[in-house]
Amino acid sequence: MIIGGSASQKLAANIAGELGDTLCSIETRKFPDGERYIRIKGKLEDEAVVIQSTGYPQDENLIELFFLLKNLKTLDVNDIKVVIPYFGYGRQDKRFRSGEAVSASIVLDLLQDSGASKIFTINLHENNITEFFDIPVHNLSAMPLIADYIKEILDDPVIIAPDKGALEHAEEIAGILRCEHDYLEKRRISPNEVETKPKNLDVDERQAVIIDDIISTGGTMINASKILKEHGASKIIVACVHPVLVGNSLLKIFATGVVDVVATNTLTSDVSVISVASLIADALRRY
Ligand code: R5P
Repeated sequence: MIIGGSASQKLAANIAGELGDTLCSIETRKFPDGERYIRIKGKLEDEAVVIQSTGYPQDENLIELFFLLKNLKTLDVNDIKVVIPYFGYGRQDKRFRSGEAVSASIVLDLLQDSGASKIFTINLHENNITEFFDIPVHNLSAMPLIADYIKEILDDPVIIAPDKGALEHAEEIAGILRCEHDYLEKRRISPNEVETKPKNLDVDERQAVIIDDIISTGGTMINASKILKEHGASKIIVACVHPVLVGNSLLKIFATGVVDVVATNTLTSDVSVISVASLIADALRRY
């Protein structure tokens, strides 16, 4: 039985379709004062899969997820698998300044307390947050799906990480496509000057794909796109797993001369063209 929270209804329906499982509908609305009403419709079984991304509005999506889980538990559903395609609050994985809440770990504690028996998620921003879990967690990678998409639209691209932190993603995609990859390196060339450029490769006249896990404000991609253009890239495509896309970030990215922006549907957006339904369905079958 598959239950989709309001942030992931279509994806939940696609996953139910892939698995041949029942899609259980829910009723969710807000009372006039803003409080949330949740009702799970249909006949429940002993096992359920709840699918809910916890992107914007994060707090509402999280509360809805907790209501669904606790509700299932008290309705005697014993095995509850939770799929969080985009894991909101995943970036605060440590206390950077005294007194800060480690939000990633708090969310995980609450999920465990709510009765989740297993968690599935996709390209967590910080893999080390899996250490906070006491229950099994499957951190899936959507990079192979992005690689398949790129294969269909470009011949011999160069895969560029916008910074060293994203290099592992560029490596993964380039490994699948058997093409070159690199990352943009920031170098101080004088006390007042910093230069950012591809570390090893010449991108002149090359078709470049910039890959990152998340596009949020778009600042990272905008900067990377401008640098690749300055270095002569003939075509630039921007790709990510989680299109958070704050405000008009998408327009600002296109305005740098990027030909296309592609993302998965862990979050719904205008550029969510790559479906993670099969990736999640496969993981649910295996575990
Ligand atoms: C950072 O570590 C992440 O991998 C992304 O590069 C970052 O979240 C992107 O943020 P923005 O779009 O705001 O530059």
